[in-house]
Amino acid sequence: MGQPFTVSLVSWHDGEPLLKSIREVVFIREQGVPAELEWDGLDEGCRHALALSHQGDAIGCGRMFANGHIGRIAVLPQWREKKVGTAIMEALLDYARAHDYKQVDVDAQTHAMPFYRNFEFVEQGKEFIDAGLPHLKMVLKL
Ligand SMILES: CC(C)(COP(=O)(O)OP(=O)(O)OC[C@H]1O[C@@H](n2cnc3c(N)ncnc32)[C@H](O)[C@@H]1OP(=O)(O)O)[C@@H](O)C(=O)NCCC(=O)NCCS
Repeated sequence: MGQPFTVSLVSWHDGEPLLKSIREVVFIREQGVPAELEWDGLDEGCRHALALSHQGDAIGCGRMFANGHIGRIAVLPQWREKKVGTAIMEALLDYARAHDYKQVDVDAQTHAMPFYRNFEFVEQGKEFIDAGLPHLKMVLKL
């Protein structure tokens, strides 16, 4: 049986309300990221991955800059551990490979490092605090 969701790449222009609804729940309400940091004005310049359930509900997202910087990977709590996050990352990595990116990177929240290690991202540098949460830069050579 196939997965009960699909992931597609969208522009901010096309996906804004759905992408915002996920990030509002996960980053602002669940993780306590201040709204002014979450809405950093950089979304227009990114490719976005959007996961939709077969019912059409927005359940996960992520974004990637033209320089290969990946961020804002989020899956709604009730949809976690069902490989939605993996499918979002694969969609972004497929895009990066198709466009000849040499490497991608992510500022990983430290709790999520095992998630990124699954794609063979490796840690780089020291832990730092962003939006009040511990992070570490991780890099994947393509
Ligand atoms: C991190 C997150 C995106 C993972 O999404 P997900 O859909 O649950 O992940 P998947 O089901 O694809 O997980 C794949 C693997 O990643 C690992 N993993 C997933 N979530 C993890 C977590 N929170 N901590 C550590 N490892 C995790 C597991 O090894 C898992 O493999 P398994 O299913 O064989 O155990 C999701 O937990 C989330 O939205 N968290 C809150 C927001 C966040 O912290 N985002 C990351 C910002 S850097």
